[in-house]
Amino acid sequence: VGALSHQPVLLAPTIELLAPRPGGVYVDATLGAGGHAAAVLERSGPDGRLLGVDRDPRALGLAAERLRAFGPRVRLAHGRMSELPAILAREGLSSVDGLLVDLGVSSMQLDDPGRGFSFQADGPLDMRMDPVRDEPLAALLPRLSEDELARALADLGEVPRARQAARRIRAALAEGRLGGTRELARALGEGARAGARIHPATRAFMALRLLVNDELGELDSLLASLPAPLAVGGRVVVLSFHSLEDRRVKQRLLELEGRCVCPAGLPVCRCGVQTRMRRLTRRALRAEQAEIEQNPRARSVRLRAAERLAA
Ligand SMILES: C[S@@+](CC[C@H](N)C(=O)[O-])C[C@H]1O[C@@H](n2cnc3c(N)ncnc32)[C@H](O)[C@@H]1O
Repeated sequence: VGALSHQPVLLAPTIELLAPRPGGVYVDATLGAGGHAAAVLERSGPDGRLLGVDRDPRALGLAAERLRAFGPRVRLAHGRMSELPAILAREGLSSVDGLLVDLGVSSMQLDDPGRGFSFQADGPLDMRMDPVRDEPLAALLPRLSEDELARALADLGEVPRARQAARRIRAALAEGRLGGTRELARALGEGARAGARIHPATRAFMALRLLVNDELGELDSLLASLPAPLAVGGRVVVLSFHSLEDRRVKQRLLELEGRCVCPAGLPVCRCGVQTRMRRLTRRALRAEQAEIEQNPRARSVRLRAAERLAA
């Protein structure tokens, strides 16, 4: 599977909002195939630098090839976005001019049956973005109670009749019928309403993937660290693909913008709310129809951006 099969989503607005400047220092916390990163490097001139972080060692390998032409301007680090403060410290970067976060899995991960993200082809019950440090679905699943599983399916995937779906998964597991992703999809399909527009397993697979990789926890940690990793004037751009992700980004950026809650008419603010960042997007940006037709991943994207203000 080639790195080029992954097309960067909302590339033009991402670059416009991140606004790389000559000689700037940037972090791509979800490097993937390095598509966005290459564009940042092109825009930041011969002295611009980029640190690319990914929890998937294979993605780092592909990105290293793709970004080789940029030579020592690129540094790569294996790690999670929740570890960004420690990674930056290790790299000797006290603050950066821009931070890019493009959430979720890449098409390279999705399309590789061996990684277990998909039921289009059979694969192991895995779904780890980081096969070095994390635990595969096959190990996690037997530990989940019916309640936990039903809650994950309902909350993370909005799976209809999640309780029944959880029961079916647990029954298939107990009967030894859950060898791979096809069997998991079959277990989820049983009892599903005929003629459903999307396969009943689609939402469940997304929920389980979010769970295996603690994707919301990862995002929460990264958002909580803001604005510290950014220099004054530094910008963050986040691309989300799930309403639960976008809601978190939206809330955190509003919080960082700091709304004065003083009673109207006070001559000076006394509530002490601090404005630490300024939103660059009032509403989330979405992809145009033309991009969606070319790249189905763009269908659900929501982009939000903000800039760090002087303390
Ligand atoms: C959608 S892809 C990024 C694509 C990239 N923007 C490009 O243009 O090629 C997301 C990447 O982020 C990585 N990733 C997801 N969650 C992560 C996390 N919490 N920490 C580090 N990397 C993560 C995945 O392994 C995947 O390679």
